[in-house]
Formats: sequence, C-alpha cells, structure tokens
Amino acid sequence: MSSPFDLTGKTALVTGGAQGLGRMIAEGLANAGARVAITSRSKEKSAAAAKEISDSEMCVGLGADLSTPKAAVDLANEFREVLGDELHVLVNNAGQSWGADVDDFPDEAWDDVLAVNLQMPFTLVREFLPELEKAGQEEDPARILNIGSIAGATALRLRAYSYSASKAAIHQITRDLAGDLAKRNITANAILPGFFPTGMTAHLRDAEEQVNPRLLAKIPMKRMGKPDEIAALSVFLSCRASAYITGTAIPIDGGIVGCG
Ligand SMILES: NC(=O)c1ccc[n+]([C@@H]2O[C@H](COP(=O)([O-])OP(=O)(O)OC[C@H]3O[C@@H](n4cnc5c(N)ncnc54)[C@H](OP(=O)(O)O)[C@@H]3O)[C@@H](O)[C@H]2O)c1
Repeated sequence: MSSPFDLTGKTALVTGGAQGLGRMIAEGLANAGARVAITSRSKEKSAAAAKEISDSEMCVGLGADLSTPKAAVDLANEFREVLGDELHVLVNNAGQSWGADVDDFPDEAWDDVLAVNLQMPFTLVREFLPELEKAGQEEDPARILNIGSIAGATALRLRAYSYSASKAAIHQITRDLAGDLAKRNITANAILPGFFPTGMTAHLRDAEEQVNPRLLAKIPMKRMGKPDEIAALSVFLSCRASAYITGTAIPIDGGIVGCG
C-alpha cells in the first residue's frame, strides 16, 4: 500500500495559486505527486508560475477573475476540458482584503471582497460536485479546503471589516458543506492562516523583510509562518492520512488563537 501522505494520481485545483499562499500550497501538492491546476486573473502569470512549479505537464496555469459566478462556471468548464472529469482536491484560496478605519470604511469595500472570499468558493464547490463525487471514495474522500483566516475566528483589530466577516462566513459554510457532503464521500475543512509573508501582509514587513515588532509581540511563537508549513498542512488535509477529518477549522498561526 502506498504512503498515506502520497497524492500520486490525484488532481487538484488551487485558486490564486500563482503567488503567495496559493503558490506555496500548489507547490506542496505538486511535490506530493498531485497534478495541479492553478489560477490567476492573468493567464500569462498563471502559465509562467505553473512552469516554475513543474517543468512537466503536472502543473497547469488557468486564467480566471473570480469575482462573478459566470467566471467560476467558466473556470469549471475549462478545468474539465484540460484536466478531465475528476477533482480530488479543491483549494479555495483566492482572496482580497480592504483596510480602513471604521469611520471611513467605504461601501465599495464589500462587494468584491465578499464575492471573491465567500460567494465564489461556494459557487466553485457547487459547480465541481460531479468531479468531486467521481473522485471521492469512502476510504479516501475528495477534499474541499477553504482558506479562511484567524481574522474570522478572533478579533485581531485589523480594520478589515468585510474581510474578517467573509472569513468567519467561509468557516461556517465549510461546516455546513462538511455535513451535507459527508455521505457523498467529500470532506470540507478550513485552514485558518495567521500571518505569512505574502503580498497581503507586505505592509507588516520592511524592505529587509523584518516583521513589525508590534505584530511579533502578538504571536506566541514570535515569527511569521513558513511556506513549507502551510504546504504540509494542505498536503495532510488532501491525503489519505486525513480521510476521517471533516468540518474542522484549523489555525496555523504560531499560537495566536490557541494560546489566546
Ligand atoms: N498572508 C497571510 O498571512 C494570510 C493570512 C490569513 C489568510 N490568508 C488568505 O490566504 C489567501 C491568499 O492570500 P495571500 O496572503 O497569498 O495574498 P496575495 O499574495 O495578495 O494573494 C491573493 C491571491 O488571490 C488572488 N485573487 C485576488 N482577487 C482575485 C480575483 N478577483 N479573482 C481571482 N483571483 C483573485 C490573487 O490572484 P492574482 O493576483 O494572480 O490574480 C492571488 O493569488 C487569501 O484567501 C487570504 O485571505 C492569508
């Protein structure tokens, strides 16, 4: 029997997989043996990142601006054409944020953030149900991994009101989906990152990549997360070793939520 951590023969889709956390996750899944499709709003950027992740056909770059349901439906159709009718792992990672003081928080900070972080992950799940169901087996179900945030689980006071609301909601949808899809051999879990060095947290690091001391003071382990740490958790939640785990929301945050 193969290792319970092996993803050979599985297919995965990582939205927003051309950069940041999505890229770290896509690399982890590809290194564990999966064939991975990644998306970016720029098809060229996605294709270039896919080539860097794997010089064979094991990583494919697709283009999608996931701010409308139509784009999610189109992405599912393109995935089927390129990668076929099975999807073992759907990683809803693409996300946006908006920060402003409560007095000035604008109405325009809601629509896109909720569309990309909350509605389209659900639409993608709905569209991919046939492919997930075909891939899932009782002893090794298909997986939905929703990238939430500790900002949706505890009050970090980031001034990102629509963002933290969208993340709390995706954690709840994950639980709802887990219950509804368990009998169809599909699990759903949420990963709740703390602070990782990506574009979204660039304002918390200086030019030398030193992390803002005020942020470090709030992290029990006194550092940001590392790429191979988020990759390893994603591989675990995608492989046979985690077949019996569903409906969870797992913080990966150096202790902010757990030790709070
Ligand atoms: N970094 C952290 O510390 C942290 C903490 C908690 C949660 N997260 C979550 O991790 C996920 C990835 O964020 P990140 O930290 O890697 O930030 P990032 O570098 O800014 O990446 C954001 C990703 O979302 C994609 N995206 C944004 N708007 C999109 C749209 N309209 N359509 C399609 N894709 C879109 C981007 O794709 P393109 O720009 O290539 O189109 C990019 O891949 C997000 O869900 C974020 O909330 C991050």
